[in-house]
Amino acid sequence: MAFFRPPYWLQLLIIRVLLTTSLVSSDQQDPERLIKFKDSLNNTVDLSNWDLNVPPCAADLPNWNGMICNKDGSVLGLQLENMGLSGTIDMDTLAEVTTIRTLSFVNNSFDGPMPNMLKMGQLRGIFLSYNKFSGEIGGDVFKGMSSLRKVELVNNNFIGKIPISLTQLTNLVDLQLQDNQFEGEIPDFEQKDLKVNFANNRLYGSIPKGLSNQDPSSFAGNNLCGKPLSPFSQMGNNGL
Ligand SMILES: *[C@@H]1O[C@H](CO)[C@@H](O)[C@H](O)[C@H]1NC(C)=O
Ligand SMILES: *[C@@H]1O[C@H](CO)[C@@H](O)[C@H](O)[C@H]1NC(C)=O
Repeated sequence: MAFFRPPYWLQLLIIRVLLTTSLVSSDQQDPERLIKFKDSLNNTVDLSNWDLNVPPCAADLPNWNGMICNKDGSVLGLQLENMGLSGTIDMDTLAEVTTIRTLSFVNNSFDGPMPNMLKMGQLRGIFLSYNKFSGEIGGDVFKGMSSLRKVELVNNNFIGKIPISLTQLTNLVDLQLQDNQFEGEIPDFEQKDLKVNFANNRLYGSIPKGLSNQDPSSFAGNNLCGKPLSPFSQMGNNGL
């Protein structure tokens, strides 16, 4: 019986696939990329153990502070919370660490516009709450980020409309925009398992049908009407 030997083109394909997957799962340049990202931040005392002599995610050594690690030693996310960080978030460099799926910069001193998500299409979670980010968020900033499940922008100085692209994220389950200055009408959200909080903004008009089952407190401190708010608190439901 002849020993099965795959055709030459198939051998080439297999080798190629193996090479590509190993490159993706632990990219040797990721530590340098992370250090470059760190260099764009200010006040990085809490990141002092980021050291090129040690892998960011090592099974047998402490991880670099703030790393969320995959079992294969690649970086799944950054959790840089409560660190007094400021400066620039170098998203272009972070985007080169292609295994990143979640970014948290909660409770730091970042200001300026929303970080640029353009090259971070695979993110599942983005957490920017309790900073000083400001300005409008473009309507299409989240366009095509179909893996995105959680977006938390609580307590910043964002203004302008709630970005329409958020309504198109079919996997979104958690959207927290409270304590900003978002204004205008709430767009139609239809996602089934979505939980929102839009309290304490400058929103007005009717709450869209798709959100009529949310907790009423999620709409407090705006000028909204309609379910789930009580019909008797239509105007100035600021205290709720
Ligand atoms: C926010 O971060 C600072 C350190 O920069 C910390 O002292 C404070 O307790 C943090 N606040 C919360 C609510 O975690
Ligand atoms: C970062 O630190 C540098 C030098 O210490 C300072 O000039 C700059 O204004 C700081 N940037 C921010 C955003 O705090």
